Amino acid sequence: MANKYFDLIDQTFYFPQNGFDLENGYLTFNNIPLIHLIKKYGSPLKLTYLPSIGRKIKEARNLFRRAMRSQGYSGKYHYCYCTKSSHFAHVVEEALDHGVQLEISSAYDVDLIRRLLERGKITKDITIVCNGFKPLNYLQAITGLINDGFENLITVVDNAHELDYYSKHVNEKAKIGIRVATEEEPNFEFYTSRLGLRGADVIPLFNEKIKDNPKLELHMLHFFVDTGIKDSLYYWGELKKAVRLYGALKQESEQLHALNIGGGMPIRNSLGFEFDYKYMVREIVSNILEACEEIEVPEPDIYTEFGKYTVGESGATIFSVLEQKQQNDSEMWYMIDNSLMTTLPDAWGIGERFILLPINKWDNNYHRVNIGGLSCDNSDYYNSEIHESQVYLPVNKETDEEKLYLGFFHTGAYQDNISGYGGIKHCMIPSPQHIIIDLDEEGNLVDRVLHPKQTAESMLQILGY
Ligand SMILES: Cc1ncc(COP(=O)(O)O)c(C=O)c1O
Repeated sequence: MANKYFDLIDQTFYFPQNGFDLENGYLTFNNIPLIHLIKKYGSPLKLTYLPSIGRKIKEARNLFRRAMRSQGYSGKYHYCYCTKSSHFAHVVEEALDHGVQLEISSAYDVDLIRRLLERGKITKDITIVCNGFKPLNYLQAITGLINDGFENLITVVDNAHELDYYSKHVNEKAKIGIRVATEEEPNFEFYTSRLGLRGADVIPLFNEKIKDNPKLELHMLHFFVDTGIKDSLYYWGELKKAVRLYGALKQESEQLHALNIGGGMPIRNSLGFEFDYKYMVREIVSNILEACEEIEVPEPDIYTEFGKYTVGESGATIFSVLEQKQQNDSEMWYMIDNSLMTTLPDAWGIGERFILLPINKWDNNYHRVNIGGLSCDNSDYYNSEIHESQVYLPVNKETDEEKLYLGFFHTGAYQDNISGYGGIKHCMIPSPQHIIIDLDEEGNLVDRVLHPKQTAESMLQILGY
């Protein structure tokens, strides 16, 4: 009987597959020989493979533009990168090198925009979509950008009070978007998203505060289904509702030209991941086109704000197994050299799954394990995958010369922002080192350290010692 870990993967999935292969028995990720990186830098380590970012941007652009061309869609497509998915300069600047526009969500994000301007990475004609609830400091920062000449900034109203502020403080004109709240999925705890305005309030608000206001111009209708872009009745229903609202608003507003469908494009979270991007994009375009034809309004420009899709697949987080513990007849624990809760907080907080593969020992037999994090929290573990509620990994023999190394892949979005990379961590377990990998002009892999392992001193300082 074939009991090797390799056979398990070979029989369960197509392997090798895009981005994942074996070289001399060791796993490679986008052709990166991970074992060399581990030997060079040690573990744990986080890595970002920069070329993946541009590849994803090009992929989505091609899909939208082809779908639009083939259906005779007259609007344009605009790719905004949603900075909150990863604010790191190497990520945002790589996305900007591929011509993206930006979507931001807080006052400090405006400081980031100003820094990008100082570094010569953007010019004032870039489109910036400002989303999110707007406390006074965010309103002030947005107005500052508008008054400083960011001519394509669109501030998306989440609450009606924002309009009064812009009216009063903008020198010339503010380009406005309106976010309409979507209905949540039927199994969610709330009926309507707290983000955006109730559908029924949108047109009255437009008529009351924007229509005859010389300082405000409506350019965009925004909606975002938090649970992501899916081929479900729920998603298509919400999209249709938004397009109908767009049509009704368009009849009132000359300048309205953009429908922003937000983020939520999924990424590969398992080797068995199947999502037909081409079909979904074609359906999005055709749904918008059909609805616009029905209500007889010109098709809008389509904006997306893909965060996870842009940067998720560029990231990996690698640990080594420090010890194994057989806690009863059936429960084997692999104790790793960092905390899962703090390096992959989405796995703990919202049950997110990532591609999990060992870097070595593919020829060993496999068995079922639980992966345990270093913190003392009993929920610091990982023990299920997307395709089954178990984790299988190679047997880690005491006689093996090498430690067992484990990689969680496609971890590039949100994990650092939610865990607060470099801040205070549960049980003072430090943020791992962060390595950036790129291709040089000849196409050779080059790596550099962005941050070494967090020091005790950096934590003690924040803690006031
Ligand atoms: C308004 C808005 N746009 C875009 C995104 C990005 O979503 P994703 O990373 O799933 O593409 C988010 C995520 O929270 C969001 O709130």
